[in-house]
Amino acid sequence: MVAATHESRTELLVVGIVKPAIVDALADRFTLHILDEAAEPERLLHTVGPRIRAAVVTGATATLDDTMMARLPRLEFVASFGVGYDNIGIRHAVDHGIVVTHTPDVLSEEVADTAIGLLLCTVRELTKAERFLRDGQWLKGRYPLTAATLRNRTVGMIGLGRIGRAIARRLDGFAVPVVYHSRRPAPDAPYRYYDRLIDMARDVDTLLAIVPGGPLTERMIDAEILAALGPDGIVINMARGSVMDDEALIRALRERSILAAGLDVFNNEPNIAAGYLTLDNVTLFPHLGSGTLFTQGQMEQLVVDNILAWADGRPPLTPVPETPVPETPWQTATGGHPVAER
Ligand code: NAP
Ligand code: 8YV
Repeated sequence: MVAATHESRTELLVVGIVKPAIVDALADRFTLHILDEAAEPERLLHTVGPRIRAAVVTGATATLDDTMMARLPRLEFVASFGVGYDNIGIRHAVDHGIVVTHTPDVLSEEVADTAIGLLLCTVRELTKAERFLRDGQWLKGRYPLTAATLRNRTVGMIGLGRIGRAIARRLDGFAVPVVYHSRRPAPDAPYRYYDRLIDMARDVDTLLAIVPGGPLTERMIDAEILAALGPDGIVINMARGSVMDDEALIRALRERSILAAGLDVFNNEPNIAAGYLTLDNVTLFPHLGSGTLFTQGQMEQLVVDNILAWADGRPPLTPVPETPVPETPWQTATGGHPVAER
């Protein structure tokens, strides 16, 4: 068998930090162009953009938006690392018959674990208490009893999808009442449903956001919602930074018009709004949600498996709902099927 020449191999663009498990698994079969390692990314896009048929996007802070996608006229397939895909140009993908895949389910339990960790750290001031010990303050007296407890709280989930349900199940185990808001009631969910977030915010003392980012949820937690939550209010954001009105939250925390917040995600990560860093009633995690070797290993494998499915002419394993699942045999806007035969 004659080895494929560099030129005859299918060319893939990798956008975002290099994940060795993904790159190593694909390097034998494809020619990979790694945007973040290019000395001149603009030049790379200009030169290879017209030949790129698939792209791998390796994380929530890497962007393959409509404008960038338009520079890849033969693009058929995008495999994105992560369940959230607000960093991908879905409009362009839908309009051009490009299939986008993501990594749902394999991370849900891990992210739910992190959400509970963040909730507990925030309610019981656990990270603050550890700093107290390390600073030698225990030698001078006990850490004060915390104002908040989970014992008398009701958690209003903003989003009750795959991850939201995994979080709610954990809260059931903690005997913490759960209610939720989403655009439609979730089938078979044993929790009270609110069709208006503002009504739920008035009725609960704790909000936990786990919805997609993007224009439809942008700044859905704003000054009005925080005011409705009230002075015992705690807000946890596991979703995306974009769902939060930072200015409103920083003001509410500073003025103590809510009690506390716990944030795993931020606008403009990792350059987060400086105001958060000066406050002692906010717990800050550096986007840890799915951040274990085990779970991110499963996410990496799913990215690879999606690319291989596309290359073999098989249906995508985990397409996002907006982009079409091609008919069998694999049929895309550019007619590509399958990669090995081209
Ligand atoms: P999912 O199964 O699609 O669930 C999304 C939930 O949000 C559904 O209940 C959905 O219900 C609701 N929703 C969507 N748009 C809404 C809107 N405009 N207003 C109110 N509710 C809305 O997704 P998932 O797998 O649970 O993941 C959810 C999100 O979590 C991801 O998109 C990502 O942004 C975030 N995430 C964060 C981390 C982290 O590390 N912090 C890790 C993984 C995921 P309706 O469609 O009925 O509205
Ligand atoms: C990130 C996440 O993808 O899946 C998501 O939507 O937010 C996370 O799992 C991961 O941290 C890499 O950016």
